[in-house]
Amino acid sequence: MKIVVIGTGFVGLPHAAVLSEYGHEVYAYDIDAARIAAYQTGEADAIERYVNEPGLADSVAENINRYLFFTTDIANVVDGADVFFFCINTPPKRDGSTDMTYYLDAAHHLAGLLAQRQNLSRVVLVNKSTVPIGTARLLESVMAEHGVANFGIASNPEFLAQGNAIEGSRRPDRVVIGADTAEDMHILRRVYSQFVNHVRIRYLETTPETAEAIKYMSNTLLLTYISFWNGVGARLAEAMPNIRMEDLKIGVTADARISTWGSYVSNGAGGSCFGKDIQSLIYQLNRAGRSTDLLQAVYNINEYQKIYLIERAIHEAHFSFNQKTVALLGLSFKKRTNDMRDSAALRVVESLLARGVRAIRAYDPLAVDEARRNWFNPDKNYLFERISYHATAQEAISGSDAIYISTDWEEFRGLARTIQTTVTPPYLIMDGRRMIPDYDTLATAGFDYLPVGGPLLCGREADAMSGENGHRMTARPVPSHAL
Ligand code: UGA
Repeated sequence: MKIVVIGTGFVGLPHAAVLSEYGHEVYAYDIDAARIAAYQTGEADAIERYVNEPGLADSVAENINRYLFFTTDIANVVDGADVFFFCINTPPKRDGSTDMTYYLDAAHHLAGLLAQRQNLSRVVLVNKSTVPIGTARLLESVMAEHGVANFGIASNPEFLAQGNAIEGSRRPDRVVIGADTAEDMHILRRVYSQFVNHVRIRYLETTPETAEAIKYMSNTLLLTYISFWNGVGARLAEAMPNIRMEDLKIGVTADARISTWGSYVSNGAGGSCFGKDIQSLIYQLNRAGRSTDLLQAVYNINEYQKIYLIERAIHEAHFSFNQKTVALLGLSFKKRTNDMRDSAALRVVESLLARGVRAIRAYDPLAVDEARRNWFNPDKNYLFERISYHATAQEAISGSDAIYISTDWEEFRGLARTIQTTVTPPYLIMDGRRMIPDYDTLATAGFDYLPVGGPLLCGREADAMSGENGHRMTARPVPSHAL
């Protein structure tokens, strides 16, 4: 098949690379010339500057100029193409709706070219990146407006999680194709021939609108599930004595109907998709005159969760942030990425600064440059001058009054030792990811430990506490900061 992928970001580039692995002739097109020039080198450094996914650079290097071609000139590759995948970014607008400007620019541009083509064989235009329900139909009207002949439209949503894009494309759980005609379904079966009739991969053919809705349902359901653990499981273990979060998780998820994914409590789910998609679905349902109470509650729970530990620090640990120095460990929205979109760290920094901290000493294994460049640039807000960046967690912790752990980087699991050799109590550890398994040693050494999904453990009282791991809340904990 001759396939054109329009847009070569997180969705488009891995998709193009994996399609080329299957021997299709793939043209990856982008309007960003610098990006295309970087990809054309075929070098890992250049590619990873734009999209950093395990296995991606190798896949590109193997297929470039054999099955995979990069171009900024779409007019040159339109002729004879069977399928066009739209992988264009659709950022959120302030009101939650989706900004379709880039998408529509690309659609009109392509329609103009398709209207002039000589070869009138069937083309299928497929939406791959997440777009509001009804967008495939909108695409159809754009093509019709330009007089394009012999085309079909389809929706084929992408379900990849960051950090797993290549493996996820090679072995997806499901391939969902929404198209109108048997002819278009047939063309897309040829694109995905290795997945049709696969024993473990669900290959579903449906209407374009259903396919679009499947994507929104999936993401908002995942966020709802995470929010159930954060909003109910974590609250139980925080408020009631002797509930062990990890055991609660094992006991509940042992039911084959209940997933372990999503059951680890956190300081809120971030990333470029969940927040954006739930807001967009709320907007779409509201416009259709339907109730969105559940979705609205989930959105609010998740946003509040991002600053909840700070509220607990004030109310439960009686910690005053005014003029304090806080070490912020982790900036990205999850481990193994430098992506900070919708990251809890953004809300944490906002909240800490509003509470008058003197300094924030930040550390992240990957996201420091991203933070400096795009998020905490003092040109945007002079208060960002209070943020300093450090090469190690230990350096960030040194000289601080408290720690906030915001990302689940594996290296943070060893923090108990680092903390004890770097700072002395009174000291507060806010653990937004439950990253310190040996927290009891910290409490014994006099540190106050406040985890998401667990009660405040007061260092001063740990000696006097009973219960396994000392993890039993005393009736009235007296944190060292309150003395
Ligand atoms: C998410 C979905 O998982 C993908 O299926 C979907 O295709 C993608 O959005 C998208 O629409 O493009 P992603 O945003 O890369 O993928 O990240 P996830 O691994 O799902 O994590 C999202 C957030 O939830 C992270 O902040 C993560 O730390 C948090 N999380 C995850 C929890 O707080 N608890 C959990 O148990 C799992």
